[in-house]
Amino acid sequence: MDFFRNVAKNEFVTDGLPPDYEKLVGQEYKDRMRQLENDFQSIKWLPLDIPRIDIDDHEEFFHIWNDQSIDILRHRVCVAEPWSKEEHPLGQKSSWYVPQFRGLTLWSHPMNNLEMNPFLAKKYKGDSKQLERIVDQVFEYFPMHTFWEIFLWESLIPIGPHRDKSAYWKCPTEFRAMLYDENTDPTLYVVDVEHGDKNYIDCPEDTNSFCWSNGSQIHGSDYFGKRKVILCMNGIQHSTKCRDLFTRSVNKYKSKLNYNLEI
Ligand SMILES: [Fe+2]
Repeated sequence: MDFFRNVAKNEFVTDGLPPDYEKLVGQEYKDRMRQLENDFQSIKWLPLDIPRIDIDDHEEFFHIWNDQSIDILRHRVCVAEPWSKEEHPLGQKSSWYVPQFRGLTLWSHPMNNLEMNPFLAKKYKGDSKQLERIVDQVFEYFPMHTFWEIFLWESLIPIGPHRDKSAYWKCPTEFRAMLYDENTDPTLYVVDVEHGDKNYIDCPEDTNSFCWSNGSQIHGSDYFGKRKVILCMNGIQHSTKCRDLFTRSVNKYKSKLNYNLEI
């Protein structure tokens, strides 16, 4: 199908930072990220050496989730699907019309205008202690210099291979935790843009946090009617914290990967 072939062919991809971050960081940061890219470019996906992040109270969580989360419809173009509502090749089946996810934003940087997101977003305004604790764990464990948004998404249909509107360094740039998953086998996968191999993200028992590179991989997700809720974040990654976390995680999980990692 043309739609996916075009994305996989990488036609819309830039290199390094997303264009709207260019003015926010200096040359020294870019140089450090290039070095990180150089040292960790062979990582396709990787479990992270981060303690499990779990739902404390399932009943309360799903009460909030079912009540507060919204259908995530597209309302702006982005690198993943750079077509307007009228021009999208999937027509009325596109993400402008059919939600691929339910979602809820747990935390957002004070300067982040959620209206500018490619997809609709709704900020949680309640006072659930377990959701606050999840946000605290993200701040504590993930290697970001500045967080921009922390949110939960639940996929509702299969998600075709695509890139996110994010950084495009060829080292891990995407950070997630599988907060809830009813599937017994992994459903989220990455596909190497250069080599075409597809690898499922299959974390060991002791962590549900993982990363992949938006620069070297596209990603997608199977759907078999089972629910999964993924904790997502974006922002500007911290090069030194990343180096430390990637090194620890490679040492800990290299032998548990479903591809050969030479670092
Ligand atoms: Fe994505």
